[in-house]
Amino acid sequence: VFFHAALGDLKQDVWLDVDRHAVCVVLASEGYPASRSVDVVLNFVPELVAPETAVFVAGADFQQDAWHVAGGRVLGVVGHGDTGTHAVRSAYAAVQQHRFQGAQWRTDIARHLKPARVAVLYSGRGSNFASLCGAAKGHLLSALCAVACAVGNIEGAVGDDVARSEGLPFESIANTGLTRAEHEARVRAYLQQHSVQVVVLAGYMRVLSSEFVAAYPGGILNIHPADTRLHQGTDGYEWAWNTRREFTTITVHKVDAGLDTGEIIMQRDVDLRGATSLEEVKARGLAVEHELYPQALRKYLLEEM
Ligand code: GAR
Repeated sequence: VFFHAALGDLKQDVWLDVDRHAVCVVLASEGYPASRSVDVVLNFVPELVAPETAVFVAGADFQQDAWHVAGGRVLGVVGHGDTGTHAVRSAYAAVQQHRFQGAQWRTDIARHLKPARVAVLYSGRGSNFASLCGAAKGHLLSALCAVACAVGNIEGAVGDDVARSEGLPFESIANTGLTRAEHEARVRAYLQQHSVQVVVLAGYMRVLSSEFVAAYPGGILNIHPADTRLHQGTDGYEWAWNTRREFTTITVHKVDAGLDTGEIIMQRDVDLRGATSLEEVKARGLAVEHELYPQALRKYLLEEM
């Protein structure tokens, strides 16, 4: 990745495949940046750097038998972890260990890495739900969000099994026999119980009321198997098959009070050339959905949360 960055040909879909996170907090000397204090002895012994941390010595000198402050930005204190939040915690724990007289540091480093709590709503087999759960544990999303819970609205939906196998809290809240307002009130109560910030619809076949949408301003996402600028609410795969399209489009969009009218976050084309059945069209489309949805969620969380 760095090689391509240096050559100026870094492609958008090149990812640095790391499964650990690191956060660096700089310990600066008293008065920095206006002035610098020197000759403060550092409480820094390389052998005592804790696991999960690293310390980069910058504005410091080793004199006689100890490290002394010799500049403005004295130590770069790095925390590592399996998630961004874990790394932030390790870094700030190490700051406490290595702070020195007059030391100052920012307390807001990587604050956005506190992962957003996401709920997934589904009605059917939940293949997008499963792919999001997988992505939420990987390098693409783990620092940005965690799936906190899930809600299905059809009794016995396969999506329930996804929640079970992921070990996620979930509730099947069937809408039969309930008014929309009653059903949504139950769903909202459950999401509130799990402090959900972002709602992700993964094959959730219900139109949400404007009250529900307003409860999560800008915070509901949907994946739709068509270009929502042209086709709203239709089964995009059937349309693409019946009209023998060579390509169709998948859309991830924000949910507003209309039917598939919210702002588009990302779209991707599906190559349908040579497809010989509706099943094949759907399979090709779903493969694209499973890649696109986590990427769109990442973009959304980075830009809007
Ligand atoms: C997906 O194709 C998704 O795009 C579509 O339902 C399917 C759910 O599959 N969503 C809509 O049509 C929303 N209007 P899944 O349950 O396997 O994720």
